[in-house]
Amino acid sequence: MALAQLVAERPPPAAAPIAPPTQPAWRTRLVASLHSHEKQSHSRYVQLATVRPDGRPANRTMVFRDFVSHDDDSLVFVADSRSRKMKELAYSRAAEVAWYFPCSREQYRLTGELDVVDGTTTEPNLIKARRRGWATMSDSARQQWVWPQPGAPRDNDPAVWTKRAPGPDEPPVDTFILLVLRVEEVELLVLSSPSTCTHYSREVGPDGNYFWLEESLNP
Ligand SMILES: Cc1cc2nc3c(=O)[nH]c(=O)nc-3n(C[C@H](O)[C@H](O)[C@H](O)COP(=O)(O)O)c2cc1C
Repeated sequence: MALAQLVAERPPPAAAPIAPPTQPAWRTRLVASLHSHEKQSHSRYVQLATVRPDGRPANRTMVFRDFVSHDDDSLVFVADSRSRKMKELAYSRAAEVAWYFPCSREQYRLTGELDVVDGTTTEPNLIKARRRGWATMSDSARQQWVWPQPGAPRDNDPAVWTKRAPGPDEPPVDTFILLVLRVEEVELLVLSSPSTCTHYSREVGPDGNYFWLEESLNP
C-alpha cells in the first residue's frame, strides 16, 4: 500500500474490535522461513506428491511461485497442461508438498487438493495470478511451454526447441497452467532440542466460517 494511501486512511474508532489476523500462523511462519533462506534460490524447490490412477504415489520437484493473494493462502505452481501430473489430477486432486529448510531445520508438510487454473478459468484473481505467473518467468522458461509434448519420445528436429514463446506482456499459451494447492492441513516439524511438531487443520466453525486449529504433537 502506498504511503499516501496509508496516511489518507482514517484510523479506526477507539472502540473498534481488534480484527483477527487475516493469515494463518503457518503461513506467517512459512514466509519467515523463506525470508531467512532467501539467499538460497533452491529454498523455493519443494517436493509435490500426487496419486497415480493405479493408487501409487507420484512425486516431483516444483518451484513454489507465490501464494494466490494476500487473502488466499493457496500455494501457486506453474506447470504444463500436457504433463503426466495432469492425468493424475483427473483421477484424484489429492496432493502433498514436503518442504525442508536446512538452516532452520524445519520441515513443512502441506496437504490439500490441487486446482488447475487454465485459459478457461473465469475467477478474476486466478486469471490475474496466471498472467502474473507467465509475466514473471524468463524468456527461456516461457519457451518450455511451446516445446513438444513432455514425456513423448525425444523430437530430434532442432527447430522445435527454438520456437519463440509469447512475451511476458502477451497472453499465456494454452499449455501454461497454474496448479493451486488448496491447503487443508499443515504439519511443521522443527528439529531442535527438543524437537517440536505442530499440526494445523482447517476447520469450519458453527457460523459456517473456517478457522485454523493448532495442536502441538509429539515429534
Ligand atoms: C529444480 C527443479 C524445479 C522444477 N520445477 C518445476 C515446476 O515449477 N513446474 C513443473 O511443472 N515442473 C518442474 N520441474 C520438473 C518436474 O520435477 C517434473 O520432471 C515435470 O514437471 C514432469 O512431471 P510429471 O511427469 O509428474 O508431470 C522441476 C524440476 C526440477 C529439477
